[in-house]
Amino acid sequence: MNVNGRHYRTIWLDEADPDRVRIINQQALPFSFEIMDLRTVEDARRAIRDMYVRGAGLIGATAAWGMYLALREAPAGSCDAALTQAAALLKATRPTASNLAWAVDRMLAAKPGAERETAQAISDEDAEFCRNIGLQGLGIIRKLAAGKGGSPVNILTHCNAGWLAFVDYGTALSPVYAAFDAGVPVHVWVDETRPRNQGASLTAWELGRHGVPHDLIPDNAGGHLMQHGLVDMVITGADRVTRSGDAANKIGTYLKALAARDNGVPFYVALPSSTFDWTMRDGVAEIPIEERDAAELRWVSGKTITGTIEAVQICPDDTPARNWGFDVTPAPYITGLITERGLCAAHEAAILALYPEHAGRSLSSDESASSISRS
Ligand code: MRU
Repeated sequence: MNVNGRHYRTIWLDEADPDRVRIINQQALPFSFEIMDLRTVEDARRAIRDMYVRGAGLIGATAAWGMYLALREAPAGSCDAALTQAAALLKATRPTASNLAWAVDRMLAAKPGAERETAQAISDEDAEFCRNIGLQGLGIIRKLAAGKGGSPVNILTHCNAGWLAFVDYGTALSPVYAAFDAGVPVHVWVDETRPRNQGASLTAWELGRHGVPHDLIPDNAGGHLMQHGLVDMVITGADRVTRSGDAANKIGTYLKALAARDNGVPFYVALPSSTFDWTMRDGVAEIPIEERDAAELRWVSGKTITGTIEAVQICPDDTPARNWGFDVTPAPYITGLITERGLCAAHEAAILALYPEHAGRSLSSDESASSISRS
């Protein structure tokens, strides 16, 4: 993605200083574009935990580089212990996105001495898979555009599953960028995505930098827009998708899927293979859902009329609050999964036809192994 005429990934190793991994500070967006340095595994842990980086793919890539940094910090002779400790630290940061544990495990399995190449491969593959997701999704948007007589295809998205959520391109937004770049008219409805407002602060910023027409909408507007024929399709990302196609994504995604079903609007989930959890079948019962600090709900931060960035409280001082970060959309509500290998139904047989190497994978519990997959 280009920012101020220069191409950036969201994370990269400084070639001139291999002890320095660089990230875009997503806490500062959309008001300022800042690059931050990670020099230790603790820096990487904090960047993930405190959401200087976020989004499933980028969390995974940051964890991979965190493992690399752990090794560079480790005293001679203690590499294995350093990696084991770093793996536990990093895995404990955020529980829902499968990309994190997937990346850490891949780093643990790397040949000694190949950690830098492995972290780089995880980053490069993430970008390449997301680019392919864009090409796969482009076909769907083109088909919808063919029936619109030149009017834009209206796409609703929730949270940020764009370039900022991965190493490059993104998932839900990658088909949008591919369509826009190919001259297909598109317009995006951007859910603000309370409580952290990733839609308002990140998706709107990304789309604006790329020149894609969009409008920010309140989280609760989607159903109304669908009832009035103003949404042609929904595309969201995912943080974890079971082998049967149940998809965890930012809280509120499920409600969009219900509204989409009620209004006959196609609902797509875009994901790279690192987001599948092959050990799970029942997403509602099994996917761990992160519960975050209630302060995120009770306070809102933004730019004041004088240009300073401030946080303000929006509820009474003594109001208790709960803040779940994700929900699960069951597979039957999903029209299709857009992956780097192609489009498939959100159904175990269809998913495994694209990823046959995972057909024999054992499930996380006997109970889920014996459960019947939904159609
Ligand atoms: O809490 P976040 O900002 O990390 O959540 C991100 C999302 O829910 C995205 O939609 C998701 O990661 C899918 S695309 C990376």
